[in-house]
Amino acid sequence: MRAVDLIVKKRDGGALSREEIEFLIDGYVRGQVPDYQLSSLAMAVFFRGMSFEETGFLTRAMIASGDSIDLSSVPGPLVDKHSTGGVGDKVSLVLAPLAAACGCVVPMMSGRALGHTGGTLDKLESIPGYRTDLGVERFREVLRSCGFAMTGQSERIVPADRLLYALRDVTGTVESIPLITASIMSKKFAEGAQALVFDVKCGSGAFMKSREQARALAVSLARTGASLGRQVRAVITDMDQPLGRMVGNFLEVRECVEILQGRGPEDLRQLTLRLTAHMLVLGGLAPDISGAEALCAQRLRDGSAWRSFLDNVKAQGGRTEALLDPDQGPRAPRTLALRAGASGFLVRLEAYRFGLASGLLGASRSRKEDPVWPDVGIEILKVAGDRVREGEELCLLHGRDPQRLEEARSLLEAAVTVAGQAPPPRQLVLEEIDADALGKD
Ligand code: URA
Repeated sequence: MRAVDLIVKKRDGGALSREEIEFLIDGYVRGQVPDYQLSSLAMAVFFRGMSFEETGFLTRAMIASGDSIDLSSVPGPLVDKHSTGGVGDKVSLVLAPLAAACGCVVPMMSGRALGHTGGTLDKLESIPGYRTDLGVERFREVLRSCGFAMTGQSERIVPADRLLYALRDVTGTVESIPLITASIMSKKFAEGAQALVFDVKCGSGAFMKSREQARALAVSLARTGASLGRQVRAVITDMDQPLGRMVGNFLEVRECVEILQGRGPEDLRQLTLRLTAHMLVLGGLAPDISGAEALCAQRLRDGSAWRSFLDNVKAQGGRTEALLDPDQGPRAPRTLALRAGASGFLVRLEAYRFGLASGLLGASRSRKEDPVWPDVGIEILKVAGDRVREGEELCLLHGRDPQRLEEARSLLEAAVTVAGQAPPPRQLVLEEIDADALGKD
């Protein structure tokens, strides 16, 4: 086989076989296929696409490029959730203990905040003492004892993705649905999940800005999962506005504690219940979504999800005092209010600008080496649909540096819209996609 012939085949719209894709990925990781040939291939895929079967072959070849975590010794349905990333998206911190309290085992390997989106690892590390660098053995132990474990991605998982992602980043080929699908899916399956729920975010604060893009990715994830013989559900959810009322690391942990204690904002609670319910159905723990949601609601009510979270925090080295009394947790030294410029109804809080403002305060990074602060962020006091008076506080910014607080407030001034009429109610779950229901490729 020669790489050039396979590039030409894809350039001309042909479908690559399993062996051909393995040859390219294996050769690339070993240094036998050079960057310039893989860049050409990525561009050909960008324009010509891939069938779901080819995307499945690519996913498998990428998984084979590194280690896979063997969780066969861990009993229970191993089901995970992946979100394509958003602003105020703290669902994982509630969903994992809730799913565990319902009988799932959740092997969660998460990423860090970058750009305008938050990262689960940074949120968890804002709990004093919490460790997210579990080795594989400890990861298995925590999974066995708590039913869920949360850690960072090991360097040895899917090395092909690290190489290919860096190449895509500098060759204009990041936004390719098959390449994104294989990138996300290979990491999740290599980390030991048997079944997966994808939360495909859609809107200003998401990677996929339009409904069409989000749907194309959701269908690709569900169909490719099916071609791999795996159970996958993809749920398209609204990320045009932040989720919940807190954006920032420990601020978001505080909000998760509220939900786990049976309080907290309804949008976050509803979305978490829905995504967890899909996990339970995939794991065979409930017959349908409504039965699964009822079980989740009961586990929140009876305190078992909250206890499961506390057990995990202890097992991963965190100090639970900061959760039992959030005033003992990190708190930024300064606050600044954003006030309404006019009276009327709040119709939109643009998620993208909220993410940027939170990043500016230090809750995420614009470069990998930037520090991340646990205590900074934005507390949203009024949400879309609320009636507001001119001068009333809409948000409270928590920060360390007065100049950055001012800059973040200016960003948020442009992110909020007040109008004479109330907006329609927010629809959080836009579509739920199951490969079985989609018909043939
Ligand atoms: N996230 C990933 O992990 N991979 C992509 O290609 C895009 C987003």
